[in-house]
Amino acid sequence: MRIFSGIQPTGDPHIGNYSGGFRQYAATQERGEAFFCIVDLHAITIQHDPAELRQGTLDIAAMLFATGIDPNRSVVFVQSHVTAHAEAAWLLSAVTSYGQLARMTQFKEKAEDEEFVSAGLFTYPILMAGDILLYQTDIVPIGDDQRQHLELARDVAQRFNHRFGETFVVPEGVFPDTGGRVMNLQEPDVKMSKSRGASQGTVLMLDPPDTIRKKVKSAVTDSGSDVRYDPDAKAGISNLIELLSVTTGESIPEIEARYDGSGYGRFKEEVAESIVTLLTPIRARYEELRADEGELGRLLALGADKARAASAPTLEAMYERMGFARL
Ligand code: TRP
Repeated sequence: MRIFSGIQPTGDPHIGNYSGGFRQYAATQERGEAFFCIVDLHAITIQHDPAELRQGTLDIAAMLFATGIDPNRSVVFVQSHVTAHAEAAWLLSAVTSYGQLARMTQFKEKAEDEEFVSAGLFTYPILMAGDILLYQTDIVPIGDDQRQHLELARDVAQRFNHRFGETFVVPEGVFPDTGGRVMNLQEPDVKMSKSRGASQGTVLMLDPPDTIRKKVKSAVTDSGSDVRYDPDAKAGISNLIELLSVTTGESIPEIEARYDGSGYGRFKEEVAESIVTLLTPIRARYEELRADEGELGRLLALGADKARAASAPTLEAMYERMGFARL
């Protein structure tokens, strides 16, 4: 089975990204042949800083390897290293409807935020469709906010197959279940995010142990004392239970039973320690890789070679079926 996902090279990754992203990617490689693409071409659709794009690309690559992606088993590569992605986007623009692009809620929302609305922000979903379809992808592990984009990729695949002959597998999205959704420690009713102002409520993957301890200690809880999972009435405590479940692999009832009658103090300390225990080896491996651009470059070159080989037959079939003269 082919699995494909794309990861934006922007912002400092945090424990929420681990729960909904990195952790799932590492688990996914057990299920089949997995491709993880660092989508630097997508990153230029909103105004960006060139130096940050370069650093962010290498940062995310190092984090993918540090969180358990095995470069010998899965393919980790940078989108711009494989020119098929830019080519596929152009070819697929012929079978993408302007009207459907105009209905994308993410485009409408981002367009409102941006001072300069680039054409690339509008055509972004075509590039994404190409990413997925080039690899004959069966499943796409992806965030909930990407449902509409995935639906568009499926429509594009079907339209192309219908007009030019069977060429693409029509991919299925795999969306995270609500479990493992990590909320901001200071505002437990909003998702942990990198852009959120309350940085005290966001545990970064690279935070040193004492910073993690401080952040967890000051996490918002209710005035009660029982460690019980109830996201509506006890959003703060429920979020910490969720975090403990993510970091230790224990189930929520197991955690509730273990802290029955123990109060919040010890519970919070142990949540902090479990995060520290999880992140310490990840941070060490990350720093080792990040300090060695040669090694990182070698791993990404290997990924790009495999991605080129895997995508080339599909791209060639697209050109041929659309009637481009291949002499
Ligand atoms: N748009 C996705 C996001 O913002 C990133 C992405 C680009 C992607 N290409 C992809 C995800 C292909 C899955 C498959 O999260």
